[in-house]
Amino acid sequence: MKRDCTVRKATPDDLDEITAMWAHYIRGNRNNPVYRKIPPDSIEKRRELFERHVRGPDSTVFVVDRPDGGLDGMISCFVEKNVPYFNPPSFGRLQTPYVRPEARGRGHLRRLLDAAYRWAREMELTEVRLFTSALEPQPNQLAEELGFEAFGIIRRKPISWDYPPGDSPGGLEDGLSGRTPGAD
Ligand SMILES: CC(C)(COP(=O)(O)OP(=O)(O)OC[C@H]1O[C@@H](n2cnc3c(N)ncnc32)[C@H](O)[C@@H]1OP(=O)(O)O)[C@@H](O)C(=O)NCCC(=O)NCCS
Repeated sequence: MKRDCTVRKATPDDLDEITAMWAHYIRGNRNNPVYRKIPPDSIEKRRELFERHVRGPDSTVFVVDRPDGGLDGMISCFVEKNVPYFNPPSFGRLQTPYVRPEARGRGHLRRLLDAAYRWAREMELTEVRLFTSALEPQPNQLAEELGFEAFGIIRRKPISWDYPPGDSPGGLEDGLSGRTPGAD
């Protein structure tokens, strides 16, 4: 059965529901260490970022309307600068693609991505990038199928303050100061 669905740019009136979908998104990813022990005000802070993306000139959030007036899904899009020594100079960053469980499998993600690609063209971008959790094989497979080529994995390692033994936290006396961690 063909259902009504409209993809449109979110407005400030959508912020509560967008933020609620984000809460579901991170709950679904709760096994990912990045989403563990998040600060108590993270929902408030994330809402502020969504608001900047909704209002900003080089960002947007696309949402899928549902017939009862709520939202079925979203994707956040914003321009991000690349490091100065690689191309392209900037790319479209696609964040938190999310479709409510009861609305999945009806092509909403494809519609949201189509809107994101059109937005990227309007912004004169030649590339979009999408974060996928390394712990979730299905979204990664899906991203591959949708044409997103993986080019790196970000790995994390919590730093233990008593290792290596004998070093001071600043490491000044062993000549390590001034090193940039994780530089590209
Ligand atoms: C991933 C997600 C956004 C897909 O939304 P959706 O609206 O159901 O996706 P669509 O109906 O547009 O399906 C797009 C295509 O992906 C396929 N697909 C959808 N979910 C899939 C999954 N979990 N694994 C593999 N393929 C999947 C569909 O079969 C479809 O392919 P087709 O058009 O060739 O039939 C949704 O499942 C979701 O919100 N998941 C939780 C959050 C998440 O993982 N986000 C993705 C981070 S990259």
